Amino acid sequence: MVSGENPERWRDRPSLLRPVESLVEELPVRDWYPIQQPLELEIGCGDGSFLFHHAAKHRARNFLGIERLKGRLSKLDRVARREGLTNLALVRLEARYLMRYLLPEKSFSAIHVYFPDPWPKKKHRKNRIVNEEFTELASRILKEGGCVHLRTDDENYHEQMLEVFASLASWTAIEISDDLKAIRTDFEREFNSKDIPTRYANYELTGRSNVDDRAATGA
Ligand SMILES: C[S@@+](CC[C@H](N)C(=O)[O-])C[C@H]1O[C@@H](n2cnc3c(N)ncnc32)[C@H](O)[C@@H]1O
Repeated sequence: MVSGENPERWRDRPSLLRPVESLVEELPVRDWYPIQQPLELEIGCGDGSFLFHHAAKHRARNFLGIERLKGRLSKLDRVARREGLTNLALVRLEARYLMRYLLPEKSFSAIHVYFPDPWPKKKHRKNRIVNEEFTELASRILKEGGCVHLRTDDENYHEQMLEVFASLASWTAIEISDDLKAIRTDFEREFNSKDIPTRYANYELTGRSNVDDRAATGA
């Protein structure tokens, strides 16, 4: 809450939920923030257990949260407005569609995906969001030098994450920073409380495109 302000005034602040008015036109993401500064994306942000704290801590960066469930986004919208965050915008839509068609190219400095649905059954693994297609979509919207930060509780999914990035020369494995590690998500706390460890995968886009990668590997 901004100091000296009537505690109920936050309700007058505009919603951080942004409308998707066209399914073919690029979203005017830059217009959603009062200050132009580095932009980060969280996919499947839920009710913001990571994004709220990260955005509150880093006011000199802008953040976009994507989530398909309305109730979770509404909760995040409420707490973020109460906190007076203006460096956060939220969109309710399917993440792959957004990444492929609606988000501006080469515009993000980081993408966070924490505890994506694991789809543990073998026949359902094609539904996992982090796969070969994801590396292509991430390279479309990330700036050169941008990073992907992933976490999961699922051992098989973690192996898949490592495999898809390791097979492409355009990505370099990096260490997770203490700053990121310090914020645990709701799902993470729940898993950790049952002695299920967090498995991390962090990569930097070092320049070449996936198309170059495929040519190099003969794929
Ligand atoms: C297991 S929850 C994790 C939530 C949060 N990241 C955390 O760690 O606490 C996965 C979230 O991703 C959202 N989600 C899954 N697939 C999605 C998609 N294709 N597009 C947008 N959101 C998605 C779900 O609705 C859910 O809120």
